[in-house]
Amino acid sequence: MAYRITLLPGDGIGPEVTDAAVAVLEATGLRFAWERFEEVGAAALQRYDTPLPEPVLDSIRKNRVALKGPVTTPVGKGFKSVNVQLRQKLDLYANVRPCKSLPGIETPFKNVNLVIFRENTEGLYAGIENYDERLEIADSIARISRKGSQRIIRFCFEYARRHGFRKVTLVHKANILKLTSGMFLNIGREIAQEYPEITFNDRIIDNMCMQLVVRPQDYECIVTTNLFGDILSDLAAGLVGGLGIVPGANIGDACAVFEAVHGSAPDIAGQNRANPTALIRSAVMMLRHLGEHAAADAVRDALYETFREGRYLTADLGGSATTSQFTEVVADRVRQRVSG
Ligand code: NAI
Ligand code: MG
Repeated sequence: MAYRITLLPGDGIGPEVTDAAVAVLEATGLRFAWERFEEVGAAALQRYDTPLPEPVLDSIRKNRVALKGPVTTPVGKGFKSVNVQLRQKLDLYANVRPCKSLPGIETPFKNVNLVIFRENTEGLYAGIENYDERLEIADSIARISRKGSQRIIRFCFEYARRHGFRKVTLVHKANILKLTSGMFLNIGREIAQEYPEITFNDRIIDNMCMQLVVRPQDYECIVTTNLFGDILSDLAAGLVGGLGIVPGANIGDACAVFEAVHGSAPDIAGQNRANPTALIRSAVMMLRHLGEHAAADAVRDALYETFREGRYLTADLGGSATTSQFTEVVADRVRQRVSG
């Protein structure tokens, strides 16, 4: 049997890191039937007149699992983010982003092991924007719902319980945003009572940024609204070695889309320089989602061995290996592990 999976390579460095992730996945010996859609984002506009064509959404709805590279979003004009639309249209409400210190990757911080749970469908990214031409005033509405808050907070606690974490920190700005952040915080306090074995606390977003760059080891699971989660996950990526290595998953009740935290990195696109680790680790999350833990462990261990050895690091980690050299080394190690 082959796993039928929707594959969205995206643009910028997307196709390079997607090819790498596919090569490593295929090295596990599992079989995959990829439903590949090259045309998403700007590339889809000409043919489909929309950056997110309906056949892409249908494919994910049918297969229930997708692996996705980054898609560029025009800044300050143009089409709405494909990434945000995908999460909203498929109701992928939980964006899970583990940030963990890795063997062999030197950073100023040791033993960081935190997971960010970003609410993925509402908040300031709800898409409720208005511009009043006469007054020249722009509004972006941060919409928070009780249902939307409950499900992401509960998802975080359930994950903490299942994975043996003992702390959940809710991040908010309830001192200023009394209604939206205030409701999110209150719901967090209610749900925390259902999990007496887990220590619950909360932090105001600005203080949280400072805490994370001073004592990141004090935190385990962090649950927060959409914009704060977006910002905190790039910050947390920086604690453990950068955007090149941090994976992510967008999870809903019906389907899941696995993608790195990073974007399309236009500054290095097409140069065979991108670090594919972030998408490879997103693929590891996908394997676990599929219940393929042995294959997931093989890929994880192959990556760790490559980092520890340190001979084939990409430029973002101080090395000089190309994307394809790194990928070949990791894929070979995966093959050795699954055959040995
Ligand atoms: P970015 O994450 O693409 O890049 C930020 C910096 O990190 C750049 O210097 C880049 O070279 C580096 N970097 C990122 N990934 C890397 C990798 N795998 N290996 C080595 N270095 C890496 O963020 P930026 O530049 O703000 O956004 C570029 C575009 O990506 C924008 O259009 C943005 O909207 C889009 N984007 C898409 C996302 C998605 O598809 N989920 C997520 C974030 C941004
Ligand atoms: Mg982001």
